[in-house]
Order: sequence, then C-alpha cells, then structure tokens
Amino acid sequence: MPRRSKPGHATKTSAPILPSRLEPSQILFVCLGNICRSPAAEGLFRALEPSVDCDSAGTASYHVGEPPYGAMRQALERRDVDVSDLRARQFSAADFSDFGLILAMDLDNLAAIEAQRPRGNQVPVHLFTDFAPQTGMDHVPDPYYTRDFDGCLDLLEQAAAGLKQALAPRHS
Ligand code: 4NP
Repeated sequence: MPRRSKPGHATKTSAPILPSRLEPSQILFVCLGNICRSPAAEGLFRALEPSVDCDSAGTASYHVGEPPYGAMRQALERRDVDVSDLRARQFSAADFSDFGLILAMDLDNLAAIEAQRPRGNQVPVHLFTDFAPQTGMDHVPDPYYTRDFDGCLDLLEQAAAGLKQALAPRHS
C-alpha cells in the first residue's frame, strides 16, 4: 500500500527503525496544538496501558491552557475515553529530560521537537504511526482541518495497540 502523505508535507522515505526493546516508563505524545491528536493519543494509550505515565504537548502555543477540542472530546467519549482533565501545554526542551520516549504525530512536529534537542541527549523520538506500519500511514492527519475525528481515532488506536505491543516485554 502506498504511504499516504499530506500534500506539500515532508515525506518519510525510509522504513522506520524502532528499538527492538522499548522500556520507557514516561511517554510524551506531541502534535501542533495539543488539543486534538496528542491528547487523544494520550487518552487512548492511558486507557490501554495505565502502568505507563503519559503526557502530551503541542509544538505551538496557540491553545495553551485549553481542554481538548470539543469534537475530539465527544468522539473519544463515544469510545468511553475521558480526556476532560487534560489541558494544552507547549513542548519544551525540558521534556527531553522528563520523558523516555517522545512520539510525534507528523514530520513537522518531529522536526520541531528535534530542533529543541539538548546537545548529547539521546531520548528516542519517533512518529507515532511507526507503531502502525500496517496502515501505510506516515503521519496522523489533523482532524482540526480534515474534520475526520473518528478516522483519526481509528488510526491512533492502531498505533496505541502497536506501542503497547512494543512495550509488552516489560508491561504485560
Ligand atoms: P492538533 O490540531 O495539532 O492535533 O491539536 C490543531 C489544533 C489547532 C490548530 C492546529 C492544529 N490551530 O492552528 O489552532
């Protein structure tokens, strides 16, 4: 299946190389606004794997302090996932010290994260879709623009299941 990229969006050409064993106890999900994709990823993964500390952040500051976007909250509620306690915050270089794994929703997020990596820091940063290779997707399309909140959650659920499996040796 062809990898589907946003028009005008940087394309990922190589196959993802994931560490064979991931053992982070703190995972950070990152998107642009921290009101749609990353809080949804956080909520879904928190429900799936409560033993891992999860958080989410946005590379931009537009929505800092706001709860997740209403339409996304409602789509999550239909799947029995409550994210009403979450509030948007901006990603910062300090997150490289506080998390053992950072997962970006698209390549723009990934580049913005890497631009803040402190010298010598080796925390792995991956695309979340790397954990759902069966989907052929190389980013999580932003439902703030596509309005496809359920399609976004379907993809996030597959990536969350793949992430849980990658952590399985320690967390099963
Ligand atoms: P998110 O979606 O990155 O998945 O939270 C967005 C939400 C808001 C904006 C951009 C993306 N915005 O430009 O306001």
